[in-house]
Amino acid sequence: MLSQQELKQQAADAALEIVEQVAGPDVIIGVGTGSTADLFIDGLARFKGRVRGAVASSERSAKRLQAHGLAVFDLNDVDHMPIYVDGADEIDGRLHMIKGGGGAQTREKIVASVADRFICIVDESKLVERLGAFPLPVEVIPMAVAAVSRTLARLGGRPAVRQGFTTDNGNVILDVSGLTIADAPALELEINNIPGVVTCGLFSRPGADLALLATQQGIRRLARP
Ligand code: 5RP
Repeated sequence: MLSQQELKQQAADAALEIVEQVAGPDVIIGVGTGSTADLFIDGLARFKGRVRGAVASSERSAKRLQAHGLAVFDLNDVDHMPIYVDGADEIDGRLHMIKGGGGAQTREKIVASVADRFICIVDESKLVERLGAFPLPVEVIPMAVAAVSRTLARLGGRPAVRQGFTTDNGNVILDVSGLTIADAPALELEINNIPGVVTCGLFSRPGADLALLATQQGIRRLARP
């Protein structure tokens, strides 16, 4: 029986096989944030000299990439990435995701938007029938926390300020439990339109292009329907 950590490693290794296919001297890889993304970063170290570098979705990932001697580029200097690789807190069969357990969803969504393909690396515990058991992280401008919380409560959510945490952008995370996520693209749009919300952790417009799901039986590949 493989541990969750071993499954995460398998998922990261499967994404590194895709890096093998796209690698080249001008290639820049989009890199996510979290414990699974960390394993991917550690494996990416062996591509030093075979890829140009990476764009990171957080300060934490940037530091880890640099510690391996990989070049980290500002997204403003990059106009193309073949792949963006990141974990998720939940993913469903349509490859819609909840992300932001690490509070990095804003930069994650921005970097992913520039890449040709979003490759999601998860262990099987992250696959769900319906999104929403994991509280939805919402990044909010500090002065708007109370106002946004009231609006989220009207949507049926129970927002809680993530204590002792500030995002890389200087903002607050509200973790919202109790939401019914029947239509993820509609809810993503609705929450992102609340004044004061920077980015909610729903990734469904679009979701991932490919999920590499590590199971006890090996890697399951789920492509976007
Ligand atoms: C960070 C994220 C992560 O991808 C998500 O929290 C999953 O993390 P882990 O790989 O540690 O389970 O969205 O903002």
